[in-house]
Amino acid sequence: MTLTLSVVGCGYLGATHAACMSSLGFTVIGIDTDPNKVAMLQNGELPFYEPGLDTLLAQEMKTGRLSFTTDFSAVKDADIHFVCVGTPQSKDGLAADLTYVRSAVAEIAPYLKDGSLVVGKSTVPVGTAQSLREQLAKTAPQADLAWNPEFLREGFAVEDTLTPNRLVVGVANDRAEQILKEVYKPIIDLGTPWIRADLPTAELVKVAANSFLATKISFINAMAEVCEAAGGDVTVLAQAIGYDPRIGNKFLQAGIGFGGGCLPKDIRAFMARAEELGAKQALEFLREIDAINLRARQRVIDVVRSELSEDLTQYKIAVLGATFKPDSDDVRDSPALDIAVQLQAAGAAVVVHDPKGIEPARKRFPKLKYAEVVTDAVKDADLILHLTEWKEYRAIDPSALSSLVKRKIIIDGRNMLNRELWRKAGWKFHALGRTD
Ligand code: UDX
Repeated sequence: MTLTLSVVGCGYLGATHAACMSSLGFTVIGIDTDPNKVAMLQNGELPFYEPGLDTLLAQEMKTGRLSFTTDFSAVKDADIHFVCVGTPQSKDGLAADLTYVRSAVAEIAPYLKDGSLVVGKSTVPVGTAQSLREQLAKTAPQADLAWNPEFLREGFAVEDTLTPNRLVVGVANDRAEQILKEVYKPIIDLGTPWIRADLPTAELVKVAANSFLATKISFINAMAEVCEAAGGDVTVLAQAIGYDPRIGNKFLQAGIGFGGGCLPKDIRAFMARAEELGAKQALEFLREIDAINLRARQRVIDVVRSELSEDLTQYKIAVLGATFKPDSDDVRDSPALDIAVQLQAAGAAVVVHDPKGIEPARKRFPKLKYAEVVTDAVKDADLILHLTEWKEYRAIDPSALSSLVKRKIIIDGRNMLNRELWRKAGWKFHALGRTD
């Protein structure tokens, strides 16, 4: 018998999971409370940009296996329910806001059939799964609950879902594990490592992984600060330490630091939860990781001031990049936009360009100026900031911009541009963590 799946919450994670599970042959019902999002998805259109997912969604809609609705009662036909709703940072502190997770589970509870399994995928503070399982035992004792964290990266969402580097399931019994093995059989058959854990460990794996990644980035950005002070070059340093396989060369790209919908809020929620558990001291280092990360944004602004003047009111600054990383239109906690907004607040005339993120950025910061093409953004600029490493920006011919700008100064906030090329074209080129 083919299993029917429901996916509750059709944002970034849920829409990807729904389309990918449909592509494995399951019947999938996606549920979201936002009628606009549901209407778009039901039309085969993605409400956000993600390479490859648009094609997959359109293709799966045609099979008739995939559908989307705002009606929670639609989950009654499903055997397994994936909870993919958001857990943003709460408005009044560092902790995660669990409102959406709790209400998703409460909404589906009345419709759960005998033997069905609720599978949490959202990133939650450790202990949440156990408390939701206890809640279900009261409201829907015919169902069970497991936790199955996801590790997908924006820009690689389809690949990371269909060919992940591991599958982690937090279960309270063998039956739950067997059900999940049935769902993921095609992925397990590829040789994907399968890790069975208890509920708290499964929840912790996700935040531990994100904390480690955040630590790597802040580590190299701390090295960048030291390189600047000592006259070194952080890109050479990163390359050299990266050859040691125990260190590895990934996630050592120094620059303006991490942003997005996951790393910043996950490390903060992890600290808040550790404090509740009496383990505050164990994660004190994450406070420093967060501080180093935010300081990278400030360091760019300091370079801008030292290049132009303390008072920025007379200057025009072109910002290349608005999203928190390339191949995404996500501007949540984007370091690039944060820097743009701070410079504007300091009086500079700021114009932002981004290949995909202008509309989401405009929604969040309507007072910033935006340009659809790079040449418009840089026109008469006193300084260019390269803040998101889109491929397009690396393809820019510096000489082609020379006649458009007022001053030929560029700061590479991502250490990705070809410094020699820019310098050869007569530009003053700065990069974070490189003193030369
Ligand atoms: C992250 C995790 O990688 C993923 O496993 C998890 O499921 C969700 O959170 P994502 O938010 O898509 O994924 O972005 P990621 O690729 O991790 O990058 C995060 C931020 O770090 C970006 O702003 C990126 O520009 C920055 N970064 C990354 C660096 O500054 N330097 C690096 O070397 C790597």
